[in-house]
Amino acid sequence: MYELSNRHILLGVTGGIAAYKAADLVRRLRDQNAFVKVVMTLAATEFITPLTMQALSGEPVHLELLDADAEAGMGHIELARWADALLIAPASANFIARITHGQADDLLSTLYLACAAPKFVAPAMNQAMWGQPSTQTNIQTLSERGVQILGPAAGEQACGDIGEGRLLEVADIVSEVSNHFQCGALAGRRVVITAGPTQEAIDPVRYLSNRSSGKMGFALARAAAEAGGETTLIAGPVQLSCADNIRRVNVISAKQMLAATLKAVDDCDVFIATAAVADYTPVQVADNKIKKNAAEMELTLQRTDDILATVSALPQRPYCVGFAAETDDVIAYARGKLERKKLDMIIANDVSDQTIGFQSDENAATLITADTELLLPRTSKLNLAKQIIDQVGTRLPGHSD
Ligand code: CTP
Repeated sequence: MYELSNRHILLGVTGGIAAYKAADLVRRLRDQNAFVKVVMTLAATEFITPLTMQALSGEPVHLELLDADAEAGMGHIELARWADALLIAPASANFIARITHGQADDLLSTLYLACAAPKFVAPAMNQAMWGQPSTQTNIQTLSERGVQILGPAAGEQACGDIGEGRLLEVADIVSEVSNHFQCGALAGRRVVITAGPTQEAIDPVRYLSNRSSGKMGFALARAAAEAGGETTLIAGPVQLSCADNIRRVNVISAKQMLAATLKAVDDCDVFIATAAVADYTPVQVADNKIKKNAAEMELTLQRTDDILATVSALPQRPYCVGFAAETDDVIAYARGKLERKKLDMIIANDVSDQTIGFQSDENAATLITADTELLLPRTSKLNLAKQIIDQVGTRLPGHSD
C-alpha cells in the first residue's frame, strides 16, 4: 500500500531550468496512486508547456488567479481546500522570497497563502543565489513556520557551476512527501507542551523573568505534530512562530500557564514540560508604577505551583516528560527530579556549556527513564526534538513495534 495512495497533491511549478523535472515528478507521484493537480507560474510556462503537465497529470493545469471556470470564480480557494499537501518543485529564489513575505500577486502565491495543508518547498537555483544571506534567511523563516524544505542537492548545475542548489532528485522528493503521510510515532495521540519563560508582574511596567528562548519547546511541538500528534503548545512570552497544525495558547505568568495546562491536559496522552516557569512570584502586584523613593526596597516572593508535578499527580495522568537544566552532577540531580516529581522521563542538559542550551539553536542531552539512560549528542534542537519524540512514542501504552 502506497502512503500517497488517493492523496491530493497540489504541485506548484515555478520558473527555472529544473522545471522540466516537474514532468517526471508528476509521473512518479501518479505511479504511487496520488491525485496530482498542477499550478504553474507564468515563468514556469517558459520552460515547460502546460500541455505536457496536463497530459501527465490527467487534470487541467491552473495558471490564472481569476478562473472563470471555477465555481464562484475562486479557483485558488477551491484548489487550496482540495490539497492534502502543497508541493512547490522547483521553487525559484524569487518565488521563495515572495512566499516568505506573504505576497499574493499570482495564482500560486495566493494559493500558498490560502492553503492550510502541509507545505513542501524544493528549491532549485544557481549555487551563488542559494548561498545569498537573503535566500538563506527566507529558507530559515519558512522552515520555522513549519514548511518542509526538501534539498537542494549539490553537484553540477545547468549553468556550469558546481555547488548546492540543484533540485533534489525526483525520487527523493516523492519519498519525503510520502514519509509525511506515514503513521508517525505519535499518530492518534494528544500532546501538550509548555515552552518559554513566564513573566511575573511586579507593577504595571515591571516583571521578573528569565532568559529562556522557548526554542526547545517549539522544536518539540513541531516534531510532535510532524509525528502525527494532535499538539497543543502553551507558550510564555517568546518571539517565535509555529506552524498552523499546532494549537498555540499564549500565556504570560506561571499562574496562567498552570491554568492553561490543566485545561489542555484533560484526556491527553503526553505532557512535555520544557517551560522555564518562574519558581517565585511577587506576593503583591502594585496597582501603580512603583516610584524610586527609598535607597532600598524589598520584594516579597512566594513559590509558584509546580506545573509538571501537578500534572503528574493527576489521577488520569498522561505520560509525563520533564526537563532538567543543571550545571553540575547533571544526571544525579535529574534523576532526583524524575523520582520526586514522579515522571516517566526526564531530559537532562548541562547548562554549564554556554554554547548549547537557552538561547542557542543547538543542544545536547541525556534522556533518562527509571531504567534507561540514553545520551543524545549535540545536534540542532529540531533533531534532538525528533529523537525525544521517537523515544516517547515507543514508550507509550498501546505502542506496538
Ligand atoms: N516546571 C514546571 N513548573 C514549575 C517549575 C518547573 O512545570 N513551576 C518544570 C519545568 O518545565 C521542567 C522541570 O519542571 O520540566 C524543571 O524542574 P525544576 O525542579 O523546577 O528545575 P529547576 O527550576 O532547575 O529547579 P532547581 O532550581 O531546584 O534545580
